[in-house]
Amino acid sequence: MSTTPVKVAVTGAAGQIGYSLLFRIASGALFGADTPVELRLLEITPALKALEGVVMELDDCAFPTLAGVQIGDDPNTIFDGVNHALLVGARPRGPGMERGDLLEANGGIFAPQGKALNSVAADDIRVTVTGNPANTNALIAMSNAPDIPKERFSALTRLDHNRAISQLAAKTGASVTDIKKMTIWGNHSATQYPDLFHTLVGGRVAAEVVNDQQWLESTYIPTVAKRGAAIIDARGSSSAASAASATIDHVHDWAAGTPADDWVSMSVCSDGSYGVPEGLISSFPVTVANGTWSIVQGLEIDDFSRGRIDATVKELGEERDAVKGLGLI
Ligand code: NAD
Ligand code: LMR
Repeated sequence: MSTTPVKVAVTGAAGQIGYSLLFRIASGALFGADTPVELRLLEITPALKALEGVVMELDDCAFPTLAGVQIGDDPNTIFDGVNHALLVGARPRGPGMERGDLLEANGGIFAPQGKALNSVAADDIRVTVTGNPANTNALIAMSNAPDIPKERFSALTRLDHNRAISQLAAKTGASVTDIKKMTIWGNHSATQYPDLFHTLVGGRVAAEVVNDQQWLESTYIPTVAKRGAAIIDARGSSSAASAASATIDHVHDWAAGTPADDWVSMSVCSDGSYGVPEGLISSFPVTVANGTWSIVQGLEIDDFSRGRIDATVKELGEERDAVKGLGLI
């Protein structure tokens, strides 16, 4: 085992997602069995006692890869020297709400956390925002951390990506491993666009395999885009284990890279690719090598896809304007 632990901060660590996520990280799911991790767990003061209980459970697992745990309510202490920051802590929506309704309640969390990361995180810091509305919260954190390169900020659309693969596998009878090059475009919201025109099922274009535009428009896209709400309706609270699993997938692939025959969906700072205005945190197909993502270039976008991408990106622009109005960026 290597000797220097990777320092991983998790915010909202006493919450539902935290309860799945911490045990996966501690057991080596991010960087493998040979890389020790040190957990830095941030919570609000009233949740620290509950978090102490979670830390007792982490201790009780005797994970060989867990090199240490520190908890606290001060981001400047908890983020000190961290290599990865997983910003999960934020209020979840309830029944009948859209994720954008959380902008005002949650946006305020991410400006101070961005500032703290800017001051004390390690030089190689990579930030993943899971807390909703994830894309715009990542924009707030990035905007408040001027010394951290913009490409080190990301938001989670991997859960949507995984949902999109699972629904397509169910429709086609393929196994999830036969499905490659899935793309979620835009916002982690009901406007997101899961694109089947570049996805492959057993090497064939998914939209051609399915060959049913009605299903694609009326069933597939809404099922994927509104899955979060369906889970809230069924469970009475928002997705947690699947969100933790997707957060693991996202950070794992950012560190380990993507295979030559595949890509993943990550929400990252737009460089203007595919007409997405520069500076918005939008979901794209990306490949990763040596810890650096690159937006897949040269995909043909037909009129149907263009309309869908433009609609979700318009919403991201509106969210950016709203948080500008709140003085958060
Ligand atoms: P939760 O309410 O169970 O836990 C949130 C935790 O964050 C709480 O323990 C709370 O005390 C803590 N917290 C609040 N403010 C904080 C702050 N300033 N610093 C540190 N911690 C703070 O919620 P959850 O179910 O774990 O969900 C967390 C967030 O993740 C929600 O916003 C939810 O909507 C979002 N989410 C995103 C995705 C995605 O795919 N991007 C998926 C599922 C959930
Ligand atoms: C999800 O997609 O499950 C989460 O973003 C939670 C939500 O509010 O939908």
